[in-house]
Amino acid sequence: VTVYLVGAGPGDPELLTRKAARLLSEADVVIFDRLVSSEIVQEARADAVKINVGKHPHDGSASTDQSTINSMLVHYGRTGATVVRLKGGDPFLLGRGGEEVDALVEAQVPYEVVPGLSSSLAVPALAGIPVTHRGLAAHVTIASGHEVDGNVDWVALGALEGTAVLLMAVANRAEIARRMILGGRGSSTPVAVIESGSTAREHRVVTTLDSLGTIEVHAPAVIVIGDVAARIVDPEVVLFKELAQSWGEGPS
Ligand SMILES: C[S@@+](CC[C@H](N)C(=O)[O-])C[C@H]1O[C@@H](n2cnc3c(N)ncnc32)[C@H](O)[C@@H]1O
Repeated sequence: VTVYLVGAGPGDPELLTRKAARLLSEADVVIFDRLVSSEIVQEARADAVKINVGKHPHDGSASTDQSTINSMLVHYGRTGATVVRLKGGDPFLLGRGGEEVDALVEAQVPYEVVPGLSSSLAVPALAGIPVTHRGLAAHVTIASGHEVDGNVDWVALGALEGTAVLLMAVANRAEIARRMILGGRGSSTPVAVIESGSTAREHRVVTTLDSLGTIEVHAPAVIVIGDVAARIVDPEVVLFKELAQSWGEGPS
């Protein structure tokens, strides 16, 4: 194997898998995304080649485009060096890992995928939110909110009763909430917003679906929509009173 597609988890270096930490300490070349924390990149060998291909969510100019990243992986992979392609969370969840694998397969460069803790599950968990919970939610949908008129039918999602976990949804949160309410989701459904989960900048807010568009939110954030969101532990900001009262009886 020459190229390892490695999940770096949500940010805290302690949430790296043992395999990710070992490969990072051995790699000759590390190619990493913007959301991989600097503490994690620092775990690479001092003499390793480190390349930041960080993607900026709304400004393509600040990032390396995907086809260039694919070519870089093929290029370094062919040198026989040990290459770690380090991606935030899990490499195969909303991270274009599949496209990178396709490029490596096409170029016949040996690769291996090393799963990571996805922010979609780990960030809510760190904030005390089980994305499924007996009696509250029997299923969870993870969706990208990057496009409001893309492949996700937000009205249909609003008709489901389980938990919705949205990534890359900060900019479109008001319109997504509006469409989910149109689909039948209650406007007072609890919503947890967790910014920069597992890092020193983590910020937890809890609100309702109809208020989601009105509150201040900074990317990167995981947005959890559904009754389980009310189980959030230690939110810094509470944007509705009924929920504040229910914490007194909550599990935290
Ligand atoms: C391109 S997606 C990649 C997701 C990644 N593959 C994963 O499994 O977590 C990037 C989005 O993940 C979410 N995200 C990643 N790390 C996060 C963190 N530490 N705290 C909050 N959200 C995070 C944000 O919604 C961000 O916009």
